[in-house]
Amino acid sequence: MKQSLNLKQLAWALISIIGGLMLMAAAFDPGLPGNYWESPSAKVSSNHDWSALEKDLRPEACAQCHAAQFDVWKKSLHSKAYSPGLIGQFPDMGHAGANDCLVCHAPLEQQLYSDRASMDDSILLSLKHREGFDHEGNLDAEKLPLRHSGVSCAVCHVRNGDRFGPPPKATGAVGKQNSPAHGGFTATKDFEQSQFCASCHQFPDYMAINGKPLENTINEWKDSSFAQEGVTCQGCHMPDRKHEFRGIHDPEMVKKGLTFSLTQQNNSANLSMTSTWIGHAFPTYVTPKVIVEAAALSANGSLLKHEQWEIVREVAYQNGWQELRDTRLMPGETRDYLLKDLPEKSSIVRFRVRVIPDHFYKGIYQSLLAEGLNPAASVHIQRAQKQAAKNDYLLYEQLITISNAH
Ligand code: HEC
Ligand code: HEC
Ligand code: HEC
Ligand code: HEC
Ligand code: HEC
Repeated sequence: MKQSLNLKQLAWALISIIGGLMLMAAAFDPGLPGNYWESPSAKVSSNHDWSALEKDLRPEACAQCHAAQFDVWKKSLHSKAYSPGLIGQFPDMGHAGANDCLVCHAPLEQQLYSDRASMDDSILLSLKHREGFDHEGNLDAEKLPLRHSGVSCAVCHVRNGDRFGPPPKATGAVGKQNSPAHGGFTATKDFEQSQFCASCHQFPDYMAINGKPLENTINEWKDSSFAQEGVTCQGCHMPDRKHEFRGIHDPEMVKKGLTFSLTQQNNSANLSMTSTWIGHAFPTYVTPKVIVEAAALSANGSLLKHEQWEIVREVAYQNGWQELRDTRLMPGETRDYLLKDLPEKSSIVRFRVRVIPDHFYKGIYQSLLAEGLNPAASVHIQRAQKQAAKNDYLLYEQLITISNAH
């Protein structure tokens, strides 16, 4: 009697252990394959026996079933990464050099150039089609090669035809999931980690200039309170999983990240600026420049005093890369911009903050055009120059009335 009870207990114990293991297997997060971000990059074509639509890797194809993601992504800079400013530089670099750039701008195997001719053809094709995909998600539009869609859906979601994505919101399930299309997909929490963005937004530490790589966004984030609080890149740049990727080119995004306060102290006026919702340096790259201006004006509006400051990480190539200065705001940091010794007739002080998102590139485009380029490259670089000029904006303007300065 005693013995049989023990056997029964043993059987139950075994069943629950096996059941537990099975549950664990179902809940086991496989993570992304180790070579997911390997470059030169991932193969995405599929050998699967699927419909033409499911095999088509252009974003227009994904749009047929994932319209919500497509409609937001198409407005992001990721969709414009195969840009005139990029490919206009290629003729002088050769196709192998150009492929080194494409590892971030259009990294899939089908996006890289196989030879010089494929590069030259693509540069000419881009003169006719400014966008790398059909804006309306129209499948029947004249087909453009996948590379023209830049950092498109397949770059982040497809390898060997198979789809990878975050755990579905409804179930939170990880591992292989069934779905009516493209043979299901693999769900992994790796999509929710900041590290997911690293292969393109973080240079390795050995490439440091004055201790910091040219792209250092992930390290800056790791040192911030946002990392401790679990606020990831996706948390700010993909709210509710929306594929926005808004950054320095978007005034509303930048305004959300900063808090301003304007005060008078005796005969000086102060603008204090705090980085309250930016998970890395403001700005994180060496390419933008932010200008803070203060102007003391008389009652009739004439300029009495003016001062300006620059927020920038400035680097230059002089016997290797050198850092000239770094005046950026780190996460949580407050900076005061003080206009001192206001002239006697000062009636108001005006503070302005202007953003030049493509400051560094503007210089590059100018020198490329001055050196002389082949005709196709020259048209691309002129387009890039025009677009860069349009990207400048006034972020902030406030006046403070000066009382009893003297
Ligand atoms: C014929 C329709 C169809 C096409 C075309 C299609 N998908 Fe899907 N996809 C689905 C369905 C259905 C699911 C199941 C889950 C859902 O509804 O989001 C899915 C799931 C996914 C998921 C997983 C979502 C998650 O919760 O993690 C990803 C990622 C994905 N697809 C990417 C793509 C990409 C990228 C393309 C284009 C290269 C594409 N799909 C083309 C229908 C399609
Ligand atoms: C395959 C490479 C790649 C991956 C992966 C990638 N990005 Fe990007 N990202 C780029 C490139 C290239 C650009 C610049 C596009 C352009 O303007 O040409 C960019 C631009 C951006 C911008 C806009 C910058 C600006 O100047 O306003 C943001 C924000 C951004 N990425 C965030 C992210 C986040 C968050 C992730 C991870 C979820 C991510 N990216 C993953 C390559 C990548
Ligand atoms: C490690 C990833 C990476 C590599 C490699 C890379 N870029 Fe970029 N590139 C980016 C990111 C991220 C941005 C957007 C950041 C910003 O706002 O400056 C960008 C922006 C640009 C821009 C301005 C936006 C645009 O598309 O017009 C140009 C031009 C550019 N890159 C050219 C190049 C060239 C030329 C090369 C090769 C010599 C190259 N990039 C290699 C990641 C990369
Ligand atoms: C730069 C990388 C990147 C690109 C490009 C990209 N995605 Fe995503 N996608 C992600 C990440 C990361 C997540 C998960 C975000 C999170 O969990 O916060 C995601 C989530 C998704 C999901 C699940 C959405 C949900 O609400 O559960 C689908 C479906 C999807 N993407 C489809 C697409 C399609 C279609 C495109 C092209 C139009 C695309 N993605 C382009 C990185 C990308
Ligand atoms: C707390 C919110 C927050 C987090 C977390 C965050 N960002 Fe940002 N990010 C912003 C804001 C706001 C801006 C606009 C101001 C600026 O350019 O710094 C921005 C700008 C950018 C830009 C534009 C280029 C530039 O020079 O500033 C890129 C690229 C970018 N973020 C990538 C990332 C990546 C990658 C991560 C994860 C390591 C990340 N961000 C984490 C809020 C955030």
